[in-house]
Parts: sequence; structure tokens; C-alpha cells
Amino acid sequence: MERTVVVLNGPNLNLLGEREPEVYGRETLADVEALCAKAAAESGLRLDFRQSNHEGVLIDAVHEVRTSAVGIVVNAGALTHTSVALRDALATCTAPVVEVHISNVHAREEFRHHSYLSAVSDAVIVGCGTRGYAFAIARVAELAEAAR
Ligand code: DQA
Repeated sequence: MERTVVVLNGPNLNLLGEREPEVYGRETLADVEALCAKAAAESGLRLDFRQSNHEGVLIDAVHEVRTSAVGIVVNAGALTHTSVALRDALATCTAPVVEVHISNVHAREEFRHHSYLSAVSDAVIVGCGTRGYAFAIARVAELAEAAR
């Protein structure tokens, strides 16, 4: 079976490029997918890239891949700060989980400082712009290789 890294994007990330560009930049989600495809290929991994505005859809996606993916990269958007259910789903993953935020959430509003996902993630990458996704995929590849 091909080794697959799954990248999950949460609410409003479909609007990347037009939504608050001063915070998130001008790149679109399609640009991020292309960047992830390149990073995955460089690590010899297949990419499964998804976005949903719905918490349950993201949870179902985690359940679908929780034992088959070599790793999960997750930018859950605002669900990061609210979703115990997504946290509980990610906690069932056998493979590494890397949390990503495009912006530096710690330099923003107080409500963005807490993440329900960080405690069940192997790594957290914030404030590196969309490059953070590439760093996360590279880290998933390293962890997956070490676990082989
Ligand atoms: C975000 C940060 C979140 O606080 C916000 O709700 C997002 C995007 C980021 O990538 O910086 O939607 O996850």
C-alpha cells in the first residue's frame, strides 16, 4: 500500500487568499495543496489533501485514515480552539499528528492561544505561513521513517 500523508484543513480555509490576506497571505488553498504535493513527493509520500467547514466531516476523515495514514497534518482553523471532539478523534491515531497554523496564533487574540489539539499532537508549527505545511510533512516523514 502506498504511504500516505493526510492533510486536513478546517473551517474557512477554503477562503485562503481572499480571507484576511494581511494575516494569512495571498496564497489560495489550491496553492497550499500544490506546496503539500511537492513536499510529500520529496519525502516519497502520497498526499491526501482535504478541507471541510464541518466538524463531523473532519472527525469522520480522521476515523477513515487513523490507522492507515503514515501521518496526519491538521490545520483545524477555529476548531483548534473549541473542539474536544476533534481532539478525541486525533488521540486515536496510531500515526504521528502535526498541528499547523499559518499565523502565529500566540501573537493574536487570547482565545487563539489555547489549542485542544496540541496535547495530542507530536509537533506544532505556528507562524511559518503556508511553508508550515511543508515543514509538517517533512516531520511526518521523519517520524514515520523512524517508526519503520
Ligand atoms: C489558523 C488560526 C486559527 O485561529 C484561525 O481560526 C484559522 C486559521 C491559522 O492557520 O493560522 O482559521 O488555524
